[in-house]
Amino acid sequence: MSQPAVPAFQHVPVLLNECLQGLNLKPKMVVVDATLGGAGHSREIVKQIRGGTLVGFDRDTAALRYSADVLKAVDGVAIRLVKANFADLADNLHSMGIDGVDAILADFGVSSYQIDTPERGFSYTKDAPLDMRMDTDAELTAAQVVNGYSLKHLTDIISQYGEERYAGRIAAAIVAARPIRSTGHLTQVITNAVPAGYGKTGGHPAKRTFQAIRIEVNQELASIEKFIEGALSVLKPHGRLAVISFHSLEDRIVKQKFKLAATDCLCPPKIPQCICGHHATIKWLTKKPLCPTIQETKSNPRSASAKLRIIEKL
Ligand SMILES: C[S@@+](CC[C@H](N)C(=O)[O-])C[C@H]1O[C@@H](n2cnc3c(N)ncnc32)[C@H](O)[C@@H]1O
Repeated sequence: MSQPAVPAFQHVPVLLNECLQGLNLKPKMVVVDATLGGAGHSREIVKQIRGGTLVGFDRDTAALRYSADVLKAVDGVAIRLVKANFADLADNLHSMGIDGVDAILADFGVSSYQIDTPERGFSYTKDAPLDMRMDTDAELTAAQVVNGYSLKHLTDIISQYGEERYAGRIAAAIVAARPIRSTGHLTQVITNAVPAGYGKTGGHPAKRTFQAIRIEVNQELASIEKFIEGALSVLKPHGRLAVISFHSLEDRIVKQKFKLAATDCLCPPKIPQCICGHHATIKWLTKKPLCPTIQETKSNPRSASAKLRIIEKL
């Protein structure tokens, strides 16, 4: 029998117990899952908020459809699912008539389902169209980035979003090989552009470039910045926000935003008395990020780079 092209929605929720505990869930709460995916976290969240509301966001229609199916049997919790970018979380909640939220979870990046569905074009291990859109209605695709961006633009993206030391060589090889027709073709061009043996220590030679193109296609970092601002604005006093990031670029934004919001005065140290009037609006609950245990990493290798940061609104 031949294998189906699209796998069943497989995604193991990361740092599940740490998230559930950190969010301090109680009956009747209004909780937002900003990244529903396969509802791996949400299906456990709803068990703890009887009489409450779960609002789930995702910009991937397949994730929403699957989550709707998983959550349809839930009794005693109002489920509201929204196809939207979490950057627009606050606006969406306001237009739904929700002005205050008790807990918010975000689990950034792509789901295993997205990576494992070849035609979505996220994986450098499968030959597929150059797509990489989380929202398949969005305009920008990986093909446009790979075949349309200038050498400089491509180099900048691969260097900044992929933190790839051979960004210049890879970008030049991509431009020389245009048109690049598929993910397999792109992987080959990247592999030929880097020194032989590169990747023996840092993973597949195409890993960082694929990450960079994905971040560009989905404007991931800009969305995260706007999300944190929106999430902090809609949290009720004592409400909690738990954020899981998977690479340093994501985590840096989360850390900086939380640090700013947790600080009282922002005046330069030379100024004897505060003139900025800035007041902390949150407190850190995790001074250091929580990371998966060795057991979790063993059973779910995709959790390996996860970092969970939790704050509470003052
Ligand atoms: C790592 S998965 C979440 C998995 C989920 N927590 C679970 O356990 O099943 C991330 C999900 O967030 C979605 N996503 C990523 N960035 C988004 C954004 N800016 N707005 C809305 N959804 C986003 C992706 O489409 C993906 O389905």
